[in-house]
Amino acid sequence: MKYAIFIALFAVASALPGRVVRSSDDVVPILRSDVVAPSAGGEYSFDVETGDGIVRSESGYGSADNGAVESQGTVSFTHPDGTPFELKFVANAAGYQPESAALPVAPAFPFEIPQFVLDQIAKAAEEDANRSLEQSKGDYVGYE
Ligand SMILES: *[C@@H]1O[C@H](CO)[C@@H](O)[C@H](O)[C@H]1NC(C)=O
Repeated sequence: MKYAIFIALFAVASALPGRVVRSSDDVVPILRSDVVAPSAGGEYSFDVETGDGIVRSESGYGSADNGAVESQGTVSFTHPDGTPFELKFVANAAGYQPESAALPVAPAFPFEIPQFVLDQIAKAAEEDANRSLEQSKGDYVGYE
């Protein structure tokens, strides 16, 4: 029964106008593929473009601090409805930092937050920090 519902939904979705349905047998040509494999220092890069309009490039290197790889790159493609998608990112010690007009943005808070509320939030964060500091001291099983 579930299978029949899936087939019916798939048939409806496939019939939607303007939608390109690819089969797994379709071959997407690789138009460009410049790859520099990681060196001993962790430096690498790749720049790939496929016939279906996906462009992906990225480069990175090993960080001197902790050996972690820091990288940056871009991704772009066109959605089935024709809308272009572009994303730039940097990934480093500060985390993964994507930038794209397609990413959701939180709405502005509808009113000014009173100072006493901000003070209470800061106090709660300090209590949490103190508590986890106390717990980490309690969990410490070291040999001195
Ligand atoms: C957190 O710990 C510090 C240092 O012991 C202390 O001065 C402070 O009052 C504590 N904060 C809270 C909110 O308990």
